[in-house]
Amino acid sequence: MTSPVVLITGALTGVGRATAVAFAKEGAKVVVSGRRQEAGESLAAELKSLGTEAEFVRADVRYEEELKNLVDRTVERFGRVDVAVNNAGTEGELKPIVEVTKEDFDLAFETNVLGTLMGIKYQLRAMAAQGSGSIINVSSIYGLMGAPIGPLYVASKHAVVGLTRSAALEAARAGVRVNAVTLGAIETAMHDRVMGSEENKAAFAATIPQGRPGTPEEAADLIVFLGSGRSGYITGQTITIDGGKMAGN
Ligand SMILES: NC(=O)c1ccc[n+]([C@@H]2O[C@H](COP(=O)([O-])OP(=O)(O)OC[C@H]3O[C@@H](n4cnc5c(N)ncnc54)[C@H](O)[C@@H]3O)[C@@H](O)[C@H]2O)c1
Repeated sequence: MTSPVVLITGALTGVGRATAVAFAKEGAKVVVSGRRQEAGESLAAELKSLGTEAEFVRADVRYEEELKNLVDRTVERFGRVDVAVNNAGTEGELKPIVEVTKEDFDLAFETNVLGTLMGIKYQLRAMAAQGSGSIINVSSIYGLMGAPIGPLYVASKHAVVGLTRSAALEAARAGVRVNAVTLGAIETAMHDRVMGSEENKAAFAATIPQGRPGTPEEAADLIVFLGSGRSGYITGQTITIDGGKMAGN
């Protein structure tokens, strides 16, 4: 089989970056995107050094035209798009509902929900035209349950789950699968920001049955699986990777 063509949003750090490296190691052609040109070009160079083709396309996922451009550039360069990972996300400011503002709402929903929705819109058009594809949306265990902090993050990640299920139904007959990964704690900059201190991180880790956060590479392995033909009969699902955390809820 020819190398699949993969695009990833928010690919410059954390889970997105690990996913780009994992796909590159599998021999996929990888289009990485994010908001920082220099860091993006340096990641593309790193992926090429793994022996595959790679390109950086700048995209802020809050803007529909930038997500359209990302798909257009991918198809122009590589002729198709087999796998799309809507990974970019923000935790925003973690405030209680009694303190949130319209600006907080706009940041969380424009990044996490609109960014995923408009990503799917153009990815699905391209994949439907070629008759195959796999879209993976990065949600959270807080897309499946509430949390005492970050109501806008929780609500926006629930919305990603809803979009995933609806898109899967719309896309199935076109040969396109759409799934979400619902991540528990994964050791990234976002996890550090949300936890705030080493003490909080240790206390949270103690609530995870496996006793530790996951690594970005472990999350990436699941995403690579969902992008591959080995998951060909899986669509419309949320697949959780959380060290057992949800099993106790
Ligand atoms: N780390 C965790 O514990 C955890 C848990 C559940 C879900 N997630 C989700 O995993 C995904 C990846 O997060 P991460 O943990 O790697 O953290 P991260 O902060 O390293 O990665 C998020 C990436 O998204 C990018 N991004 C944010 N807003 C953007 C925008 N408007 N346009 C383009 N890119 C934008 C950031 O610059 C960053 O590179 C996110 O969707 C996050 O919500 C993470």
